[in-house]
Amino acid sequence: EHEEILNGIKSTLRVIPDFPKQGIMFLDITTLLLHPKAFKDTIDLFVDRYKHKNISVVAGIEARGFMFGPAIALAIGAKFVPLRKPKKLPGEVISEKYVLEYGTDCIEMHVGAVEPKERAIVVDDLVATGGTLCAAMNLLERAGAVVVECACVIEVPELKCRLMLECVLAGIEARGF
Ligand code: PRP
Repeated sequence: EHEEILNGIKSTLRVIPDFPKQGIMFLDITTLLLHPKAFKDTIDLFVDRYKHKNISVVAGIEARGFMFGPAIALAIGAKFVPLRKPKKLPGEVISEKYVLEYGTDCIEMHVGAVEPKERAIVVDDLVATGGTLCAAMNLLERAGAVVVECACVIEVPELKCRLMLECVLAGIEARGF
């Protein structure tokens, strides 16, 4: 039955070649969101994994972590903390830069969004190099939070575009890339 649920979720995803540029196979989760059952099954897998782990912070990464994170946060009774691209958050922020293939990027979090020792998970739609998740974990840890795990719907190890929804269940162990 578990297999059936994962296959059901996988069947709603689509790959768009050459987006946003030539040679990139873009894994699109918006088609998953169009299917209420697959969407709910996805959220439920995360909720079942995290509901009894004393998590008080769900940190979602802009933009597609915002599509899964709040539903998980509500279901497990945690706060939702948006981690955003630079200059989007209105209050005082802490920033974490990270290296991309060409150049650098940065994510930001509001000061005071998490308290020291709070137990957090990081949610995003997809992990490719893991750079974004690492930056997110660094931000949360700098604020004193404990990152229990990162949770993504899709894993693309070494950019080979392997769909691995099982990582919903396996989670991505913090620091385990
Ligand atoms: C994608 C994806 C993750 C990140 C994963 O976001 O949603 O956040 O890349 O890549 P990594 O594991 O190599 O760090 P994108 O950069 O497309 O930003 P967007 O969500 O704002 O479109």
